[in-house]
Amino acid sequence: MKEVFNLCGIVGSVGKSQTYEFLVDCLEKLEYRGYDSCGIAVNDNQIKINKSVDGVKSLLDLTILSGNLGIAHTRWATHGKVSLENSHPHICNLKRFAVVHNGIIENYREIKDKYLSEYYFNSETDTEIIINLFSCFYDIYHDVNLTLNKLIKILVGSYSLVIIDNLNSEKIYFIKNGSPLFIGVGENFNTIASDVNCFKDVLNYVVLNDYEYGYLSKDQYSVYFAEKEVKKKEHELEITEDVYDLNGYEDYMLKEIEEQKKVIQNIMDNYYDFTLNKNLINKLKQTKKIYIIGAGTSYHAGLIGKVMLDELYNKEVYVKVASEFYYENNVDVENAFLIFISQSGETKDLLKCYERFSKADSLVITNVKNSSLDLLCTYSLYLYANKEIAVASTKAYIAQILILFIVRFNLKHDFLIVDEFNKLLDSVTDIYQQKNKFLEIANNMKHTSAFYIGKGIDYFVCLEAALKLKEVSYIHAEGLMSGELKHGSLALISEDVPVVALISDKKIETKVRNSIEEIKSRKGKVFSIVTENIGINDDIILKEVHDYLLAIIMAIPTQYIAYYTAKRLNLNVDRPRNLAKSVTVE
Ligand code: AGP
Repeated sequence: MKEVFNLCGIVGSVGKSQTYEFLVDCLEKLEYRGYDSCGIAVNDNQIKINKSVDGVKSLLDLTILSGNLGIAHTRWATHGKVSLENSHPHICNLKRFAVVHNGIIENYREIKDKYLSEYYFNSETDTEIIINLFSCFYDIYHDVNLTLNKLIKILVGSYSLVIIDNLNSEKIYFIKNGSPLFIGVGENFNTIASDVNCFKDVLNYVVLNDYEYGYLSKDQYSVYFAEKEVKKKEHELEITEDVYDLNGYEDYMLKEIEEQKKVIQNIMDNYYDFTLNKNLINKLKQTKKIYIIGAGTSYHAGLIGKVMLDELYNKEVYVKVASEFYYENNVDVENAFLIFISQSGETKDLLKCYERFSKADSLVITNVKNSSLDLLCTYSLYLYANKEIAVASTKAYIAQILILFIVRFNLKHDFLIVDEFNKLLDSVTDIYQQKNKFLEIANNMKHTSAFYIGKGIDYFVCLEAALKLKEVSYIHAEGLMSGELKHGSLALISEDVPVVALISDKKIETKVRNSIEEIKSRKGKVFSIVTENIGINDDIILKEVHDYLLAIIMAIPTQYIAYYTAKRLNLNVDRPRNLAKSVTVE
Protein backbone atom coordinates (compact mmCIF):
# COMPACT_ATOMS: atom_id res chain seq x y z
CA MET A 1 0.00 0.00 0.00
CA LYS A 2 1.36 3.42 -0.88
CA GLU A 3 2.20 5.60 2.04
CA VAL A 4 0.14 8.52 0.76
CA PHE A 5 1.64 11.06 3.04
CA ASN A 6 3.36 11.34 6.32
CA LEU A 7 3.38 14.21 8.76
CA CYS A 8 6.67 13.83 10.48
CA GLY A 9 9.72 15.37 12.00
CA ILE A 10 13.17 15.37 10.42
CA VAL A 11 16.49 16.33 11.95
CA GLY A 12 20.18 16.05 11.03
CA SER A 13 23.42 17.14 12.68
CA VAL A 14 27.13 17.25 11.89
CA GLY A 15 29.98 17.87 14.32
CA LYS A 16 28.43 16.63 17.55
CA SER A 17 30.53 13.93 19.21
CA GLN A 18 27.55 11.93 20.54
CA THR A 19 25.46 12.43 17.43
CA TYR A 20 23.20 9.44 18.11
CA GLU A 21 22.11 10.59 21.59
CA PHE A 22 21.85 14.18 20.37
CA LEU A 23 19.49 13.16 17.56
CA VAL A 24 17.33 11.05 19.89
CA ASP A 25 16.98 14.11 22.11
CA CYS A 26 15.89 16.21 19.14
CA LEU A 27 13.46 13.50 18.00
CA GLU A 28 11.78 13.55 21.40
CA LYS A 29 10.99 17.22 20.81
CA LEU A 30 9.57 16.39 17.42
CA GLU A 31 7.51 13.53 18.81
CA TYR A 32 4.66 15.91 19.75
CA ARG A 33 3.98 16.08 16.02
CA GLY A 34 2.92 12.53 16.46
CA TYR A 35 4.74 9.46 15.29
CA ASP A 36 4.21 5.81 14.80
CA SER A 37 7.79 4.91 13.98
CA CYS A 38 11.22 6.49 14.04
CA GLY A 39 14.79 5.93 12.93
CA ILE A 40 18.35 7.23 12.90
CA ALA A 41 21.18 6.87 10.38
CA VAL A 42 24.74 7.74 11.46
CA ASN A 43 27.70 7.91 9.10
CA ASP A 44 30.96 6.67 10.56
CA ASN A 45 32.59 5.96 7.21
CA GLN A 46 29.73 3.58 6.78
CA ILE A 47 26.04 4.42 7.18
CA LYS A 48 24.40 2.41 9.95
CA ILE A 49 20.65 2.64 10.59
CA ASN A 50 18.49 1.92 13.65
CA LYS A 51 14.69 1.95 13.46
CA SER A 52 11.86 1.41 15.93
CA VAL A 53 8.09 1.26 16.11
CA ASP A 54 8.17 1.53 19.91
CA GLY A 55 8.71 5.21 20.48
CA VAL A 56 11.73 7.45 20.18
CA LYS A 57 13.22 6.52 23.56
CA SER A 58 13.43 2.87 22.50
CA LEU A 59 16.16 3.90 20.03
CA LEU A 60 18.42 4.20 23.08
CA ASP A 61 17.86 0.51 23.81
CA LEU A 62 19.43 -0.36 20.45
CA THR A 63 23.15 -0.26 19.63
CA ILE A 64 24.34 3.31 20.06
CA LEU A 65 25.79 4.12 16.63
CA SER A 66 29.08 6.07 16.72
CA GLY A 67 29.90 8.93 14.41
CA ASN A 68 29.54 12.71 14.33
CA LEU A 69 27.14 13.03 11.40
CA GLY A 70 23.62 11.67 11.20
CA ILE A 71 19.97 12.11 10.31
CA ALA A 72 16.81 11.06 12.14
CA HIS A 73 13.07 10.94 11.61
CA THR A 74 9.70 10.46 13.30
CA ARG A 75 6.98 9.26 10.97
CA TRP A 76 3.25 9.79 11.49
CA ALA A 77 1.77 8.05 8.51
CA THR A 78 -1.97 8.09 8.26
CA HIS A 79 -1.68 5.85 5.21
CA GLY A 80 0.66 2.90 4.82
CA LYS A 81 1.16 0.35 7.54
CA VAL A 82 3.26 1.06 10.60
CA SER A 83 6.38 -1.00 9.95
CA LEU A 84 10.15 -0.86 10.15
CA GLU A 85 10.32 -1.16 6.35
CA ASN A 86 8.22 1.98 5.92
CA SER A 87 10.02 4.00 8.57
CA HIS A 88 12.85 6.35 7.66
CA PRO A 89 15.76 6.79 7.06
CA HIS A 90 15.70 5.02 3.69
CA ILE A 91 18.92 3.99 1.93
CA CYS A 92 19.51 3.57 -1.81
CA ASN A 93 20.20 0.24 -3.47
CA LEU A 94 23.94 0.95 -3.55
CA LYS A 95 23.86 1.56 0.25
CA ARG A 96 25.68 4.85 -0.37
CA PHE A 97 23.03 7.54 0.31
CA ALA A 98 20.37 7.70 3.05
CA VAL A 99 17.49 10.16 3.36
CA VAL A 100 14.82 11.40 5.75
CA HIS A 101 11.81 13.12 4.19
CA ASN A 102 8.78 15.16 5.17
CA GLY A 103 6.03 15.70 2.61
CA ILE A 104 4.53 14.06 -0.46
CA ILE A 105 5.98 13.16 -3.85
CA GLU A 106 3.00 13.22 -6.21
CA ASN A 107 4.75 11.87 -9.30
CA TYR A 108 6.46 8.94 -7.58
CA ARG A 109 4.92 6.38 -9.99
CA GLU A 110 6.17 8.17 -13.10
CA ILE A 111 9.62 8.52 -11.55
CA LYS A 112 9.77 4.84 -10.68
CA ASP A 113 8.71 3.81 -14.21
CA LYS A 114 10.91 6.31 -16.04
CA TYR A 115 14.16 6.23 -14.06
CA LEU A 116 14.12 3.35 -11.60
CA SER A 117 12.79 0.30 -13.39
CA GLU A 118 16.07 -1.55 -12.60
CA TYR A 119 15.88 -0.74 -8.89
CA TYR A 120 14.39 -2.81 -6.08
CA PHE A 121 12.36 -1.40 -3.17
CA ASN A 122 11.98 -2.69 0.38
CA SER A 123 9.18 -0.30 1.32
CA GLU A 124 6.23 1.20 -0.50
CA THR A 125 7.16 4.75 0.39
CA ASP A 126 7.78 7.59 -2.01
CA THR A 127 10.86 8.34 0.11
CA GLU A 128 12.72 5.25 -1.04
CA ILE A 129 12.09 6.37 -4.60
CA ILE A 130 13.66 9.75 -3.86
CA ILE A 131 16.92 8.34 -2.52
CA ASN A 132 17.32 5.95 -5.44
CA LEU A 133 16.60 8.80 -7.85
CA PHE A 134 19.32 10.80 -6.10
CA SER A 135 21.70 7.86 -6.41
CA CYS A 136 20.76 7.40 -10.08
CA PHE A 137 21.58 11.00 -11.01
CA TYR A 138 24.64 11.19 -8.81
CA ASP A 139 26.00 8.31 -10.90
CA ILE A 140 25.54 10.53 -13.96
CA TYR A 141 26.71 13.89 -12.59
CA HIS A 142 29.13 12.87 -9.82
CA ASP A 143 28.24 16.25 -8.33
CA VAL A 144 25.89 16.74 -5.37
CA ASN A 145 24.66 20.22 -6.28
CA LEU A 146 23.85 19.23 -9.85
CA THR A 147 22.09 16.14 -8.51
CA LEU A 148 20.06 18.12 -5.96
CA ASN A 149 19.11 20.67 -8.60
CA LYS A 150 18.04 17.86 -10.93
CA LEU A 151 15.81 16.39 -8.25
CA ILE A 152 14.12 19.78 -7.82
CA LYS A 153 13.36 19.76 -11.52
CA ILE A 154 11.90 16.24 -11.43
CA LEU A 155 10.09 15.92 -8.09
CA VAL A 156 6.50 17.16 -7.94
CA GLY A 157 4.92 17.70 -4.54
CA SER A 158 6.02 19.09 -1.20
CA TYR A 159 9.17 17.69 0.32
CA SER A 160 11.98 18.54 2.66
CA LEU A 161 14.86 16.15 2.31
CA VAL A 162 17.99 15.64 4.37
CA ILE A 163 20.55 13.27 2.82
CA ILE A 164 23.84 11.75 3.99
CA ASP A 165 26.60 10.15 1.91
CA ASN A 166 28.52 7.04 2.90
CA LEU A 167 31.64 8.43 1.28
CA ASN A 168 31.48 11.85 2.93
CA SER A 169 31.41 12.04 6.72
CA GLU A 170 31.76 15.84 6.65
CA LYS A 171 28.59 17.00 4.92
CA ILE A 172 24.80 16.71 5.08
CA TYR A 173 22.81 17.66 1.97
CA PHE A 174 19.29 19.12 1.90
CA ILE A 175 16.44 20.35 -0.28
CA LYS A 176 13.53 22.41 1.02
CA ASN A 177 10.24 22.62 -0.82
CA GLY A 178 6.76 22.98 0.69
CA SER A 179 7.52 21.50 4.11
CA PRO A 180 9.37 23.64 6.66
CA LEU A 181 13.15 23.20 7.06
CA PHE A 182 15.61 25.23 9.15
CA ILE A 183 19.40 25.18 9.65
CA GLY A 184 20.58 25.52 13.24
CA VAL A 185 24.02 27.12 13.72
CA GLY A 186 25.88 25.81 16.77
CA GLU A 187 29.35 26.03 18.26
CA ASN A 188 31.52 23.69 16.07
CA PHE A 189 28.44 21.86 14.86
CA ASN A 190 25.47 22.54 12.62
CA THR A 191 22.04 20.98 12.59
CA ILE A 192 18.97 20.98 10.35
CA ALA A 193 15.35 20.23 11.27
CA SER A 194 11.70 20.61 10.32
CA ASP A 195 10.99 22.61 13.50
CA VAL A 196 13.22 25.16 15.25
CA ASN A 197 11.83 24.06 18.59
CA CYS A 198 13.79 20.84 18.51
CA PHE A 199 17.08 22.71 18.22
CA LYS A 200 19.52 22.12 21.08
CA ASP A 201 22.70 24.17 21.79
CA VAL A 202 21.86 26.30 18.76
CA LEU A 203 22.77 30.00 18.71
CA ASN A 204 21.13 31.19 15.48
CA TYR A 205 18.96 29.64 12.83
CA VAL A 206 18.34 30.06 9.12
CA VAL A 207 14.93 29.76 7.47
CA LEU A 208 15.13 27.86 4.19
CA ASN A 209 12.79 28.84 1.38
CA ASP A 210 11.21 26.69 -1.30
CA TYR A 211 13.61 25.22 -3.90
CA GLU A 212 16.66 26.11 -1.85
CA TYR A 213 19.21 23.32 -1.52
CA GLY A 214 22.75 22.84 -0.36
CA TYR A 215 24.83 21.30 2.39
CA LEU A 216 26.05 21.86 5.91
CA SER A 217 29.28 20.79 7.56
CA LYS A 218 30.30 21.23 11.17
CA ASP A 219 31.52 24.79 10.73
CA GLN A 220 29.68 26.16 7.71
CA TYR A 221 26.70 25.81 5.41
CA SER A 222 25.97 26.72 1.80
CA VAL A 223 22.54 27.44 0.36
CA TYR A 224 21.76 27.54 -3.38
CA PHE A 225 18.78 28.57 -5.47
CA ALA A 226 18.73 27.71 -9.19
CA GLU A 227 22.46 26.87 -9.14
CA LYS A 228 23.44 30.19 -7.54
CA GLU A 229 24.65 30.45 -3.95
CA VAL A 230 22.40 32.66 -1.82
CA LYS A 231 23.28 34.58 1.31
CA LYS A 232 20.94 33.70 4.16
CA LYS A 233 19.91 35.85 7.14
CA GLU A 234 20.55 34.29 10.53
CA HIS A 235 17.91 34.75 13.21
CA GLU A 236 18.68 34.57 16.92
CA LEU A 237 16.97 31.56 18.46
CA GLU A 238 14.79 33.02 21.23
CA ILE A 239 15.40 30.62 24.10
CA THR A 240 12.05 30.56 25.84
CA GLU A 241 11.47 28.58 29.03
CA ASP A 242 11.60 24.92 28.27
CA VAL A 243 8.13 24.53 26.77
CA TYR A 244 8.64 20.77 26.77
CA ASP A 245 8.79 20.75 30.56
CA LEU A 246 5.41 19.54 31.81
CA ASN A 247 5.97 21.43 35.11
CA GLY A 248 4.22 18.66 37.01
CA TYR A 249 1.31 18.30 34.61
CA GLU A 250 0.41 14.86 33.29
CA ASP A 251 -0.27 16.18 29.80
CA TYR A 252 0.56 19.16 27.65
CA MET A 253 -3.15 19.65 26.91
CA LEU A 254 -4.06 20.33 30.56
CA LYS A 255 -0.91 22.40 31.02
CA GLU A 256 -1.87 24.53 28.02
CA ILE A 257 -5.52 24.88 29.11
CA GLU A 258 -4.26 26.22 32.43
CA GLU A 259 -1.62 28.40 30.79
CA GLN A 260 -4.31 30.53 29.17
CA LYS A 261 -4.31 33.14 31.89
CA LYS A 262 -0.58 33.56 31.35
CA VAL A 263 -1.14 33.81 27.60
CA ILE A 264 -3.62 36.63 28.15
CA GLN A 265 -1.00 38.37 30.30
CA ASN A 266 1.72 37.74 27.65
CA ILE A 267 -0.48 39.40 25.04
CA MET A 268 -1.09 42.39 27.31
CA ASP A 269 2.67 42.67 27.91
CA ASN A 270 3.67 42.29 24.27
CA TYR A 271 0.93 44.55 22.87
CA TYR A 272 1.38 46.86 25.84
CA ASP A 273 -0.24 49.94 24.24
CA PHE A 274 -2.48 47.87 21.96
CA THR A 275 -1.47 50.06 19.00
CA LEU A 276 -0.89 48.16 15.80
CA ASN A 277 1.02 48.96 12.63
CA LYS A 278 -0.54 52.09 11.10
CA ASN A 279 -0.27 50.83 7.51
CA LEU A 280 -2.07 47.62 8.47
CA ILE A 281 -4.88 49.51 10.17
CA ASN A 282 -5.24 51.99 7.31
CA LYS A 283 -5.37 49.13 4.85
CA LEU A 284 -8.10 47.45 6.86
CA LYS A 285 -10.03 50.74 7.10
CA GLN A 286 -9.84 51.32 3.35
CA THR A 287 -10.52 47.79 2.18
CA LYS A 288 -14.05 46.86 1.17
CA LYS A 289 -13.77 43.11 1.54
CA ILE A 290 -12.04 41.12 4.24
CA TYR A 291 -11.58 37.39 3.87
CA ILE A 292 -10.67 35.63 7.12
CA ILE A 293 -9.13 32.26 6.24
CA GLY A 294 -8.40 29.36 8.56
CA ALA A 295 -8.73 25.65 9.19
CA GLY A 296 -10.10 23.70 12.14
CA THR A 297 -9.85 25.60 15.39
CA SER A 298 -8.31 28.61 13.69
CA TYR A 299 -11.31 28.80 11.39
CA HIS A 300 -13.52 28.80 14.47
CA ALA A 301 -11.55 31.74 15.87
CA GLY A 302 -12.10 33.46 12.53
CA LEU A 303 -15.87 33.17 12.98
CA ILE A 304 -15.54 35.24 16.16
CA GLY A 305 -13.37 37.70 14.26
CA LYS A 306 -16.17 38.19 11.73
CA VAL A 307 -18.58 39.13 14.54
CA MET A 308 -16.08 41.76 15.71
CA LEU A 309 -15.52 43.27 12.26
CA ASP A 310 -19.03 42.89 10.85
CA GLU A 311 -20.36 45.75 12.92
CA LEU A 312 -17.88 48.16 11.40
CA TYR A 313 -19.00 50.47 8.61
CA ASN A 314 -19.22 49.18 4.99
CA LYS A 315 -17.19 46.05 5.59
CA GLU A 316 -17.94 42.83 3.81
CA VAL A 317 -16.37 40.20 6.03
CA TYR A 318 -16.21 36.58 4.89
CA VAL A 319 -14.84 33.69 6.92
CA LYS A 320 -13.53 30.87 4.79
CA VAL A 321 -12.38 27.31 5.37
CA ALA A 322 -9.05 27.31 3.55
CA SER A 323 -9.44 23.89 1.88
CA GLU A 324 -12.68 25.10 0.24
CA PHE A 325 -11.76 28.73 -0.38
CA TYR A 326 -8.88 27.70 -2.63
CA TYR A 327 -11.40 26.38 -5.17
CA GLU A 328 -13.89 29.24 -4.90
CA ASN A 329 -14.68 31.28 -8.02
CA ASN A 330 -15.36 35.03 -8.24
CA VAL A 331 -13.08 35.98 -5.36
CA ASP A 332 -12.65 39.72 -5.70
CA VAL A 333 -8.90 39.73 -5.03
CA GLU A 334 -8.45 43.31 -6.32
CA ASN A 335 -10.55 44.73 -3.48
CA ALA A 336 -9.76 42.14 -0.86
CA PHE A 337 -7.63 41.98 2.24
CA LEU A 338 -6.82 38.49 3.52
CA ILE A 339 -6.49 37.62 7.19
CA PHE A 340 -4.87 34.19 7.65
CA ILE A 341 -5.29 32.64 11.08
CA SER A 342 -2.85 29.81 11.73
CA GLN A 343 -1.19 28.69 14.96
CA SER A 344 1.61 26.91 13.10
CA GLY A 345 1.83 29.24 10.11
CA GLU A 346 2.48 26.09 8.04
CA THR A 347 -0.98 24.70 7.25
CA LYS A 348 -0.84 23.68 3.60
CA ASP A 349 -4.48 24.52 2.91
CA LEU A 350 -3.77 28.11 3.89
CA LEU A 351 -0.49 28.28 1.98
CA LYS A 352 -2.36 27.16 -1.15
CA CYS A 353 -4.83 30.01 -0.64
CA TYR A 354 -1.96 32.42 -0.19
CA GLU A 355 -0.40 31.19 -3.44
CA ARG A 356 -3.64 31.65 -5.36
CA PHE A 357 -4.57 35.05 -3.92
CA SER A 358 -1.10 36.46 -3.28
CA LYS A 359 -1.99 39.65 -5.20
CA ALA A 360 -4.04 40.79 -2.22
CA ASP A 361 -2.44 42.32 0.88
CA SER A 362 -2.52 39.95 3.80
CA LEU A 363 -2.14 39.61 7.54
CA VAL A 364 -1.27 36.40 9.32
CA ILE A 365 -2.17 35.89 12.97
CA THR A 366 0.23 33.14 14.03
CA ASN A 367 2.11 31.65 16.94
CA VAL A 368 5.29 30.89 15.02
CA LYS A 369 7.77 33.55 13.95
CA ASN A 370 9.47 32.80 10.63
CA SER A 371 6.82 30.25 9.75
CA SER A 372 5.95 30.12 6.05
CA LEU A 373 2.89 32.36 6.41
CA ASP A 374 4.80 34.75 8.64
CA LEU A 375 7.42 35.15 5.91
CA LEU A 376 4.89 35.37 3.07
CA CYS A 377 2.16 37.69 4.35
CA THR A 378 2.33 41.47 4.13
CA TYR A 379 1.76 41.86 7.88
CA SER A 380 2.08 39.52 10.87
CA LEU A 381 0.64 39.57 14.37
CA TYR A 382 1.95 37.04 16.89
CA LEU A 383 -0.01 35.13 19.51
CA TYR A 384 2.79 35.11 22.16
CA ALA A 385 1.20 31.88 23.41
CA ASN A 386 4.54 30.01 23.66
CA LYS A 387 4.76 26.77 21.78
CA GLU A 388 1.52 24.82 21.67
CA ILE A 389 2.48 21.15 21.85
CA ALA A 390 -0.80 19.30 22.36
CA VAL A 391 -2.37 18.50 19.01
CA ALA A 392 -5.71 19.84 20.26
CA SER A 393 -5.43 23.60 20.13
CA THR A 394 -6.60 25.46 23.25
CA LYS A 395 -4.43 28.44 24.24
CA ALA A 396 -3.82 29.37 20.61
CA TYR A 397 -7.59 29.59 20.00
CA ILE A 398 -8.15 32.15 22.75
CA ALA A 399 -5.00 34.04 21.74
CA GLN A 400 -6.26 34.25 18.14
CA ILE A 401 -9.52 35.76 19.40
CA LEU A 402 -7.59 38.26 21.53
CA ILE A 403 -5.43 39.40 18.60
CA LEU A 404 -8.58 39.88 16.51
CA PHE A 405 -9.98 41.86 19.45
CA ILE A 406 -6.92 44.14 19.39
CA VAL A 407 -7.31 44.58 15.60
CA ARG A 408 -10.98 45.52 16.15
CA PHE A 409 -9.95 47.99 18.87
CA ASN A 410 -7.52 49.66 16.44
CA LEU A 411 -10.29 50.03 13.90
CA LYS A 412 -12.67 51.63 16.39
CA HIS A 413 -11.76 52.68 19.92
CA ASP A 414 -15.23 52.10 21.36
CA PHE A 415 -14.20 50.27 24.53
CA LEU A 416 -11.53 50.48 27.22
CA ILE A 417 -9.36 47.59 26.14
CA VAL A 418 -7.23 47.31 29.29
CA ASP A 419 -10.38 47.10 31.44
CA GLU A 420 -11.76 44.41 29.15
CA PHE A 421 -8.55 42.39 29.40
CA ASN A 422 -8.61 42.67 33.20
CA LYS A 423 -12.25 41.57 33.32
CA LEU A 424 -11.28 38.60 31.17
CA LEU A 425 -8.45 37.67 33.54
CA ASP A 426 -10.94 37.75 36.43
CA SER A 427 -13.37 35.52 34.61
CA VAL A 428 -10.70 33.01 33.61
CA THR A 429 -9.45 32.86 37.21
CA ASP A 430 -13.02 32.11 38.27
CA ILE A 431 -13.31 29.40 35.62
CA TYR A 432 -10.23 27.62 36.96
CA GLN A 433 -12.01 27.39 40.34
CA GLN A 434 -14.91 25.44 38.78
CA LYS A 435 -12.91 22.55 37.32
CA ASN A 436 -14.73 19.79 39.13
CA LYS A 437 -18.05 20.98 37.67
CA PHE A 438 -16.54 20.44 34.22
CA LEU A 439 -15.43 17.00 35.37
CA GLU A 440 -19.02 16.16 36.34
CA ILE A 441 -20.24 17.07 32.87
CA ALA A 442 -17.36 15.09 31.35
CA ASN A 443 -18.45 12.05 33.35
CA ASN A 444 -21.72 12.17 31.42
CA MET A 445 -19.89 12.05 28.09
CA LYS A 446 -19.94 8.29 28.02
CA HIS A 447 -21.86 7.60 24.85
CA THR A 448 -20.99 7.54 21.20
CA SER A 449 -22.30 11.02 20.48
CA ALA A 450 -22.96 14.39 22.04
CA PHE A 451 -24.32 17.82 21.09
CA TYR A 452 -23.29 21.36 21.87
CA ILE A 453 -26.07 23.86 21.11
CA GLY A 454 -26.16 27.65 21.08
CA LYS A 455 -27.03 30.77 19.11
CA GLY A 456 -24.87 33.52 17.62
CA ILE A 457 -21.35 33.59 19.10
CA ASP A 458 -22.29 30.65 21.34
CA TYR A 459 -22.97 28.57 18.23
CA PHE A 460 -19.48 29.32 16.93
CA VAL A 461 -18.11 28.17 20.29
CA CYS A 462 -20.23 25.01 19.96
CA LEU A 463 -18.38 24.19 16.75
CA GLU A 464 -15.05 24.52 18.56
CA ALA A 465 -16.32 22.62 21.62
CA ALA A 466 -17.48 19.74 19.43
CA LEU A 467 -14.16 19.61 17.58
CA LYS A 468 -12.23 19.49 20.86
CA LEU A 469 -14.37 16.62 22.17
CA LYS A 470 -14.06 14.71 18.89
CA GLU A 471 -10.35 15.06 18.45
CA VAL A 472 -9.28 13.91 21.91
CA SER A 473 -12.09 11.54 23.04
CA TYR A 474 -13.15 10.16 19.62
CA ILE A 475 -16.81 10.72 20.64
CA HIS A 476 -18.80 11.97 17.68
CA ALA A 477 -19.90 15.46 18.72
CA GLU A 478 -21.80 18.12 16.83
CA GLY A 479 -22.00 21.87 17.32
CA LEU A 480 -25.54 22.84 16.37
CA MET A 481 -27.56 26.05 16.13
CA SER A 482 -30.11 25.53 18.90
CA GLY A 483 -32.91 26.74 16.62
CA GLU A 484 -32.08 24.02 14.14
CA LEU A 485 -32.59 21.16 16.59
CA LYS A 486 -36.35 20.91 15.89
CA HIS A 487 -35.68 20.75 12.13
CA GLY A 488 -34.34 17.21 12.24
CA SER A 489 -31.50 16.65 14.68
CA LEU A 490 -33.99 16.31 17.56
CA ALA A 491 -34.54 12.79 16.20
CA LEU A 492 -31.12 11.89 17.60
CA ILE A 493 -31.95 13.04 21.12
CA SER A 494 -32.39 10.37 23.76
CA GLU A 495 -31.18 9.82 27.30
CA ASP A 496 -27.98 8.44 25.72
CA VAL A 497 -27.04 11.65 23.93
CA PRO A 498 -25.73 14.31 26.33
CA VAL A 499 -26.32 17.92 25.27
CA VAL A 500 -24.45 21.01 26.52
CA ALA A 501 -26.19 24.34 25.94
CA LEU A 502 -24.15 27.55 25.85
CA ILE A 503 -25.95 30.82 26.62
CA SER A 504 -24.14 34.14 26.91
CA ASP A 505 -26.62 36.53 25.29
CA LYS A 506 -29.69 37.70 27.27
CA LYS A 507 -31.47 38.62 24.05
CA ILE A 508 -31.68 35.03 22.86
CA GLU A 509 -31.73 33.28 26.25
CA THR A 510 -35.43 32.34 26.06
CA LYS A 511 -35.05 30.80 22.63
CA VAL A 512 -32.21 28.56 23.75
CA ARG A 513 -34.05 27.62 26.91
CA ASN A 514 -37.00 26.58 24.69
CA SER A 515 -34.63 24.23 22.87
CA ILE A 516 -33.47 22.90 26.22
CA GLU A 517 -37.10 22.14 27.14
CA GLU A 518 -37.64 20.40 23.79
CA ILE A 519 -34.70 18.13 24.65
CA LYS A 520 -35.75 17.49 28.24
CA SER A 521 -39.30 16.61 27.15
CA ARG A 522 -37.71 13.80 25.13
CA LYS A 523 -35.70 12.48 28.09
CA GLY A 524 -32.59 14.20 26.79
CA LYS A 525 -29.96 15.18 29.40
CA VAL A 526 -28.92 18.82 29.10
CA PHE A 527 -26.16 20.74 30.87
CA SER A 528 -26.08 24.51 30.61
CA ILE A 529 -23.08 26.83 30.67
CA VAL A 530 -24.19 30.45 31.00
CA THR A 531 -22.90 33.89 31.96
CA GLU A 532 -23.85 35.33 35.35
CA ASN A 533 -26.38 37.85 33.91
CA ILE A 534 -28.34 34.82 32.73
CA GLY A 535 -27.52 32.22 35.36
CA ILE A 536 -30.46 30.78 37.28
CA ASN A 537 -30.02 27.15 38.32
CA ASP A 538 -27.54 26.34 35.57
CA ASP A 539 -24.65 23.91 35.81
CA ILE A 540 -21.89 26.43 35.11
CA ILE A 541 -22.12 30.18 35.65
CA LEU A 542 -19.33 32.40 34.30
CA LYS A 543 -18.32 35.95 35.10
CA GLU A 544 -19.26 38.31 32.29
CA VAL A 545 -16.77 39.84 29.86
CA HIS A 546 -16.95 42.02 26.73
CA ASP A 547 -19.30 40.55 24.11
CA TYR A 548 -16.37 39.96 21.74
CA LEU A 549 -14.55 37.95 24.43
CA LEU A 550 -17.50 35.76 25.47
CA ALA A 551 -16.25 33.01 23.16
CA ILE A 552 -13.10 32.71 25.27
CA ILE A 553 -14.84 32.15 28.59
CA MET A 554 -17.47 29.87 27.03
CA ALA A 555 -14.79 27.78 25.32
CA ILE A 556 -12.52 27.09 28.28
CA PRO A 557 -15.05 24.91 30.19
CA THR A 558 -15.57 22.88 26.99
CA GLN A 559 -11.80 22.40 26.67
CA TYR A 560 -11.81 20.89 30.18
CA ILE A 561 -14.83 18.71 29.30
CA ALA A 562 -12.98 17.32 26.28
CA TYR A 563 -9.80 16.77 28.31
CA TYR A 564 -11.50 15.03 31.27
CA THR A 565 -13.59 12.86 28.93
CA ALA A 566 -10.50 11.67 27.06
CA LYS A 567 -8.60 11.01 30.29
CA ARG A 568 -11.49 8.95 31.62
CA LEU A 569 -11.27 6.91 28.43
CA ASN A 570 -7.49 6.52 28.96
CA LEU A 571 -6.72 8.09 25.61
CA ASN A 572 -3.56 9.93 24.61
CA VAL A 573 -4.84 13.51 24.88
CA ASP A 574 -1.62 15.06 23.55
CA ARG A 575 -1.29 12.79 20.52
CA PRO A 576 -4.76 11.72 19.39
CA ARG A 577 -4.85 8.98 16.77
CA ASN A 578 -4.68 9.97 13.08
CA LEU A 579 -3.94 13.63 13.81
CA ALA A 580 -0.86 15.80 13.56
CA LYS A 581 -0.12 19.17 15.07
CA SER A 582 0.62 20.92 11.85
CA VAL A 583 -1.04 19.68 8.66
CA THR A 584 1.59 20.57 6.09
CA VAL A 585 -0.07 18.60 3.32
CA GLU A 586 -3.33 19.19 1.47
C1 AGP B 1 -7.26 22.06 16.49
O1 AGP B 1 -7.44 21.48 17.77
C2 AGP B 1 -6.68 21.10 15.51
N1 AGP B 1 -5.44 20.61 15.95
C3 AGP B 1 -6.70 21.62 14.10
O2 AGP B 1 -8.05 21.84 13.77
C4 AGP B 1 -5.93 22.94 13.83
O3 AGP B 1 -6.59 24.03 14.43
C5 AGP B 1 -5.89 23.15 12.31
O4 AGP B 1 -5.18 22.07 11.74
C6 AGP B 1 -5.25 24.47 11.91
O5 AGP B 1 -3.92 24.50 12.33
P1 AGP B 1 -3.14 25.92 12.30
O6 AGP B 1 -3.83 26.82 13.27
O7 AGP B 1 -1.73 25.59 12.70
O8 AGP B 1 -3.23 26.45 10.89
